Amino acid sequence: MAESPAAETVKPLFSSQEIARRIDALAGDIAACDLHDPLIVAVLKGSFMFAADLIRALHGHGLTPEIDFVFLASYGESTTGGEVKILRDVTSAIEGRDVVIVDDILDTGQTLDFAKSLIKSRGARSVRACILLDKTARRQVDVTADFTGFACPDKFVVGYGMDLGHRYRELPFIGVVENSA
Ligand code: IMP
Ligand code: MG
Repeated sequence: MAESPAAETVKPLFSSQEIARRIDALAGDIAACDLHDPLIVAVLKGSFMFAADLIRALHGHGLTPEIDFVFLASYGESTTGGEVKILRDVTSAIEGRDVVIVDDILDTGQTLDFAKSLIKSRGARSVRACILLDKTARRQVDVTADFTGFACPDKFVVGYGMDLGHRYRELPFIGVVENSA
């Protein structure tokens, strides 16, 4: 079980209050789309906290979404990029559904591109994407999200479900890892 290196600190970038406010606005935007029998597909692991808060906010906006999970992993580089593999597939019927894919970060775009193609190939009536953070600087694949929480600087961020080597997912805020040594 890895402890944080002594010289490593997490500098807050988005507070839990800022995240909550933004998620409520995202839920309002999603509710305004008048989706029919919406199915939320959250991409594990990084989006689990975001998805949990988003569906509660959707409830507040009068929606009764179903939720499912797809566990995707990308290989080829240490933290992101490369080929995307399905580690756990969705179990819900996708045919004819209005699907909203939820992910933590849109980085190179490979994960979201793969997830959108997967859901489309299963016969969804519509596919939208809601991402919490958009790192536009690193995009390699031409893919966009329909709903975006925040623009993210080109830095490695952690917390609120996101990790660095399995650490920091539990933080209620989003921050940047800094080495002060
Ligand atoms: P993409 O396929 O390159 O767009 O990568 C998207 C995935 O990479 C996200 O869902 C995250 O799991 C991971 N990722 C990218 N940047 C970061 C980061 O700064 N912190 C934590 N995870 C990240
Ligand atoms: Mg992810």
